[in-house]
Amino acid sequence: MWELILKAGAVVELRPFTLADAGVIVSWISGPAELVTWAGPGFTWPLNGPQLAAYVMESGRRSWMGVGAGGRLVGHASLRLDVGGVTARLGRVLVAPDARGQGYGAALLTRVLTFGFAQLGLERVELGVFSHNSNAVRLYERLGFHLDQVLSDVEQVNGQSWSALQMSLAKADWFLGPDQAEA
Ligand SMILES: CC(C)(COP(=O)(O)OP(=O)(O)OC[C@H]1O[C@@H](n2cnc3c(N)ncnc32)[C@H](O)[C@@H]1OP(=O)(O)O)[C@@H](O)C(=O)NCCC(=O)NCCS
Repeated sequence: MWELILKAGAVVELRPFTLADAGVIVSWISGPAELVTWAGPGFTWPLNGPQLAAYVMESGRRSWMGVGAGGRLVGHASLRLDVGGVTARLGRVLVAPDARGQGYGAALLTRVLTFGFAQLGLERVELGVFSHNSNAVRLYERLGFHLDQVLSDVEQVNGQSWSALQMSLAKADWFLGPDQAEA
């Protein structure tokens, strides 16, 4: 499986997301529908610094920038920990538009999930993804996420009703991190 999802050698390191990254994130979101695709109802269009400042300060959320070769910023993702600290919600998954389809999404989430399970002691990671976002759904499936529930008609966007898939990954199903895979 790791050969499949990490075949590109798209290497990503994580560093904490800070407000200094806000302009980059704003530049990666092209319009209101993409904003909802990325973050559900979590932000309002136009995305701006004050909204991202509030996001940075959210308690219980860890958010990262994915850094590729030469310091290139290639993505963003976060984990919002539940009160007990054993379950977290993966969210705000975003790859730079000009870096998509090259394996960065898989590499970024591999780092985030490995950190969550190994460093944060998570037992389970959950997420929500719109059902028509096939690139994202395939990515999550390749990483081992299973479908738990379909929530119908959760958002109205451009006069269309969007449904969301709730997916999850148990620690027991997360069998290797990238470092072990390369060993
Ligand atoms: C969804 C998203 C994060 C995926 O990121 P990505 O970097 O394109 O993901 P990957 O490159 O790892 O995988 C995407 C595709 O590229 C393919 N790919 C992987 N390595 C590749 C390589 N070296 N060369 C070409 N293609 C490659 C994958 O096989 C996959 O194709 P498939 O879906 O047909 O199987 C990205 O499209 C995005 O940011 N979308 C907008 C925001 C969004 O939808 N976020 C999710 C919210 S839930």
